[in-house]
Amino acid sequence: MCCTLNVLVYLLVISHFVVEIACRVEFTNVKCNSVDKEFSDFEYCFLKSVNRTYKYLSLKVNLFQVPVTNVSTKFGLYKRFSGYKPFLYNLTVDACKYLKHQKSFPVVSYFYGNFKDFSNMNHSCPYDHDLIVDKLTIEQINNRFSKLLAFPEGDYMVESHFLAYGINRAVVKVYFTLS
Ligand SMILES: *[C@@H]1O[C@H](CO)[C@@H](O)[C@H](O)[C@H]1NC(C)=O
Ligand SMILES: *[C@@H]1O[C@H](CO)[C@@H](O)[C@H](O)[C@H]1NC(C)=O
Ligand SMILES: *[C@@H]1O[C@H](CO)[C@@H](O)[C@H](O)[C@H]1NC(C)=O
Ligand SMILES: *[C@@H]1O[C@H](CO)[C@@H](O)[C@H](O)[C@H]1NC(C)=O
Repeated sequence: MCCTLNVLVYLLVISHFVVEIACRVEFTNVKCNSVDKEFSDFEYCFLKSVNRTYKYLSLKVNLFQVPVTNVSTKFGLYKRFSGYKPFLYNLTVDACKYLKHQKSFPVVSYFYGNFKDFSNMNHSCPYDHDLIVDKLTIEQINNRFSKLLAFPEGDYMVESHFLAYGINRAVVKVYFTLS
């Protein structure tokens, strides 16, 4: 049901554009913002271009009040027209529940699959250590995009809010271009 609905929404949104299928995806920026520095903060958060074809994203979050047993994340995909406008998805996910029952949440798995192999977060709750995303490359995401969905060309941004115990603690925005 959840999945079917998303496909429908996707088709509706797509039908409003002259669709030129994008075949190349590139990170353009990443912004990490700790909303509650008593709870957590970013030790680092950056994009690095090693050369023309190798660019990666790394970030590390220090958690100051461990163990963390209640995490949810809210995320959406935005596309730039004049300013970034909501494009697709507006999901809130109970991360602890998701990590226990991954197969029940296909849309979440689509996003989560983009970075889980590059992070130390893919275990069930609680979290009692720093969180790391290490050298997430664009190739991984590019493959997933071109295989699973066809989005029109343009500038996009994925905005994620991380909540613990129902309180917003951090915001991560990842910008990328499809061309
Ligand atoms: C880019 O850097 C990566 C990692 O050092 C290397 O494996 C790859 O061959 C380089 N590509 C080019 C085109 O230099
Ligand atoms: C998600 O919902 C919030 C609150 O209603 C809204 O501000 C935001 O623009 C929405 N994002 C997307 C991607 O639809
Ligand atoms: C975490 O990721 C690794 C590598 O993809 C995988 O083998 C492992 O099963 C994952 N663990 C969980 C709890 O999903
Ligand atoms: C997490 O905390 C929020 C806010 O206190 C609460 O509404 C929610 O039920 C909690 N989730 C779990 C799985 O306990």
